[in-house]
Amino acid sequence: MTKSYLRERKRDYYYRKAKQEDYRSRAVYKLLEAIKKYRFIKKGDIVVDLGAAPGGWVQGCLKTVGKEGFVLAVDVRSIKPFKEPNVTFIRGDVSEKETLNAIMDRLPSAADVVISDLSPNLSGVWEVDHARQIKLAYDALEIAKNTLKRGGNFFVKIFEGDLSDDFIREVKKRFQAVRIFRPKASRKRSSEVYILGLGFKGER
Ligand SMILES: C[S@@+](CC[C@H](N)C(=O)[O-])C[C@H]1O[C@@H](n2cnc3c(N)ncnc32)[C@H](O)[C@@H]1O
Repeated sequence: MTKSYLRERKRDYYYRKAKQEDYRSRAVYKLLEAIKKYRFIKKGDIVVDLGAAPGGWVQGCLKTVGKEGFVLAVDVRSIKPFKEPNVTFIRGDVSEKETLNAIMDRLPSAADVVISDLSPNLSGVWEVDHARQIKLAYDALEIAKNTLKRGGNFFVKIFEGDLSDDFIREVKKRFQAVRIFRPKASRKRSSEVYILGLGFKGER
């Protein structure tokens, strides 16, 4: 992290808000804003959270699903344990088949929602980072196809670019409706958008 990045982060409204409200990341506000707008996660839901570290989205999900719900968090990085009993963490790479198998093993039943805030390590070369991000979004879609119940929802981050339209077309094939969401809490210069697939049609 460069000095200017750290300086900018300290000035950032959502970063300070997250610190004050005891959230593990500012990213939680993007998820909460989307849930408020589209209601795609509900009380009692079973949620798979891909790219979950450090855990802001897990906290946002727990707030929404309550004690009756369940959150399965997945990341290649380790995550500080949660005190809530209805969170399980799997350390694994979403591109690997063993991770999908582990997710299927640990889910109590088919998931109501799969969410993905997966991000690659940024190289700084736009085309490379865009392609890596889209690859992670396809990995997330693959996991969603294998774990969602019929009618379930899918929420995934992408960086906008040449490859986005093909990805959105793939999501449209699998879900009844698709929305494109640009959170207020995204950093100003960011090209990230979230694709929301509503109503999984079921795997064919
Ligand atoms: C932006 S962070 C997620 C922040 C999180 N939503 C939160 O609110 O705390 C992106 C995460 O994706 C994870 N990630 C990147 N590539 C991955 C992969 N192939 N498999 C699993 N996790 C991956 C990173 O380790 C990182 O923790």
